Amino acid sequence: MDIRLDGKVAIVTGGSRGIGRGIAGAMAEAGAKVMVTSRNEESCATTVAELQSSTGGDLTYVAGHIGKTEDMERVLDATMEAFGAIDILVNNAATNPYAGPVIEIDVPRWEKTFSTNLTAPLVWTQACWNRWMKEHGGAVVNVSSVGAFGTNAILGVYDITKRALVHLTEQLAAEVGPAVRVNAVCPGLVRTDFARALWEDGRGDAIAEMLPLKRLGEPEDIAQTVVFMASDAASWMTGHAVLVDGGQLVNLN
Ligand SMILES: NC(=O)c1ccc[n+]([C@@H]2O[C@H](COP(=O)([O-])OP(=O)(O)OC[C@H]3O[C@@H](n4cnc5c(N)ncnc54)[C@H](OP(=O)(O)O)[C@@H]3O)[C@@H](O)[C@H]2O)c1
Repeated sequence: MDIRLDGKVAIVTGGSRGIGRGIAGAMAEAGAKVMVTSRNEESCATTVAELQSSTGGDLTYVAGHIGKTEDMERVLDATMEAFGAIDILVNNAATNPYAGPVIEIDVPRWEKTFSTNLTAPLVWTQACWNRWMKEHGGAVVNVSSVGAFGTNAILGVYDITKRALVHLTEQLAAEVGPAVRVNAVCPGLVRTDFARALWEDGRGDAIAEMLPLKRLGEPEDIAQTVVFMASDAASWMTGHAVLVDGGQLVNLN
């Protein structure tokens, strides 16, 4: 089956690097018009130019912080102006400002993690719903994590936000159907800057060895699932969180 997004308009937060860049490229290749956004303008510009050249697709960008409402409004205004619709929202950008036990987290970093990883996806979904999707339909894909499904010695706070994002996905899916579908993808360890500390200097090899599929993830592994979830091929699927993790949760360790 050839999964296409022809005629659709997609916004990918955190689309300049890593998994978001993979998603933006895969969506452009599938025929969507893509708005890329992240904080660093130069990196957005470079990524959009590279993806235009590698996919032949129609992409543009607006730089901004996902937690700032005025930045989000600029992204949405520019998307409507450039492409005239907002059919797909990928809430991909996230942060992890703290590594350590949850019992020791300070409130500012707890709140920052929740504001970027949970509040921002809600606010962006609300805005896309109000501006376009409520009337015209659409699909939202939230990028959660395999960490949503277990405990972790150092990533506990981040994982709590990702678990809450799965619950937000379920709750919104129940509220906004049938016009809009809301699903989540939960990546395992993917070789991006965000997760560099976990895989660089050979550390990733030991982790890969424990996985049934014997390798770490690449952004494209996640991107293909996101394209599927956003496409009409998934038109009877909403409120689900799909693990794309090389089999991490079924390993035999
Ligand atoms: N890599 C993994 O192993 C892994 C595993 C599970 C889940 N995930 C999830 O996958 C998603 C993408 O992660 P990644 O590994 O691809 O990270 P990455 O390579 O660090 O890329 C993050 C992207 O988000 C942007 N960004 C970060 N904070 C932002 C903010 N406040 N406002 C707007 N843009 C922001 C970054 O650009 P700027 O710096 O220019 O803003 C960049 O484009 C995240 O939700 C992460 O939690 C990753």
